[in-house]
Amino acid sequence: MNQNIIKKLRAEFLTEFGEEPQWIVQAPGRVNLIGEHTDYNDGFVMPLAIDRGSFIAMRRREDDLVRIRSMEFGETKQFNLGCIKKDSMSWIEYPKGVAFALQEEGFQLNGWEGVACCDVPMGASLSSSASIELAVARAFAARSGLEWNPIKMAVICQKSERQWVGVNCGIMDQMISAIGRKDHAALIDCRSLEAQHVPIPPGTSVVVMDTATRRGLVDSAYNERRSQCEAAADFFGVKALRDITLGVFEAKVPTDGAIQWRRARHVISEISRTLEAAEVMRQGDAVALGKLMSASHDSLRDDFEVTNDYLDAMVQIARRKDSCLGARMTGAGFGGCAIALVRASTAERFMNAVAAEYRKESGLAPKIYLCSASAGADFMKSCLPKSTPSVDSRAGLRTGSLTI
Ligand code: GLA
Repeated sequence: MNQNIIKKLRAEFLTEFGEEPQWIVQAPGRVNLIGEHTDYNDGFVMPLAIDRGSFIAMRRREDDLVRIRSMEFGETKQFNLGCIKKDSMSWIEYPKGVAFALQEEGFQLNGWEGVACCDVPMGASLSSSASIELAVARAFAARSGLEWNPIKMAVICQKSERQWVGVNCGIMDQMISAIGRKDHAALIDCRSLEAQHVPIPPGTSVVVMDTATRRGLVDSAYNERRSQCEAAADFFGVKALRDITLGVFEAKVPTDGAIQWRRARHVISEISRTLEAAEVMRQGDAVALGKLMSASHDSLRDDFEVTNDYLDAMVQIARRKDSCLGARMTGAGFGGCAIALVRASTAERFMNAVAAEYRKESGLAPKIYLCSASAGADFMKSCLPKSTPSVDSRAGLRTGSLTI
């Protein structure tokens, strides 16, 4: 984790409020190793939480106001917990949505104020939104003494994104921001929400390669993919594409060339690649994992059609390097980041070479960095002065009513 950002956050809090924060909370962004566009088909995903995230330094208020200064946007916004209303879309809608979803689940919330910052690049497919949502949920948990059940909180944050922000996302991003573990990815069953932590193969590094292109009109394209998958599941008479094997699909798929069959083939094959990835990772077989990641990209490019020329170029450049075991786009697609699994000993050389070649080929300035698998949303107790309590002892324990 970037200690500089914590220093800056504390300094800003001190300037704003004239004292140290009572709590500092954090929640990470993510990259997905494999299992793309499978979560809303009830399938499996294999993301890892990264060492970048959203951070909030905060203190209690005695009224119902939540007041947040955003360091990225350089402005302070607030809302009242007693009457949360939607306004025109701005960053404060994310915290509002989380407060709304927590209240809907029966949690009693109290006011707080603080300073927030985020070092996950926005719109880059690294889940800056989920990290903001989980950090805000953590902030409410700290202030109001809420029991922290990571999976419940992930579901609540997903609900806030779907119902308040209006993005019909799956559960992957919020889940991994809540349950991430150092040096591990998580195999998540997006139907049962069971998760198993799986170690990143020893001797490898995960490199994030930001194409410097951003998704445009992503919501409509994303929703269109969802509908195509649902139409295919309906045709096969199953609840979701997770319920059909590749063998059955290939035996029964119509030959009319309709687009939803290609979409379905991606999802069904991707689910089986993801399960295989978990197997090979448990055996520490980085070479096999890399091959599966590359096959995932090709399927996303050809069948699911969510890459763009820049993602394809970045992946091709990465794959030409000896130290690269596999490379693929990550996240929703249409722009943003690709990732590569590389041999750790040559990671630095790989990064420099890829950056130079991509710049030459595309004319864009990429950002290439190593990421390490990190822990999920948490209090950052070690950042606080010794006397500060990590939960608000005056607030008592309250639990919501959600069952999942
Ligand atoms: C976005 C969504 C996720 C998932 C990915 C694609 O990140 O928020 O739920 O669907 O796209 O795998």
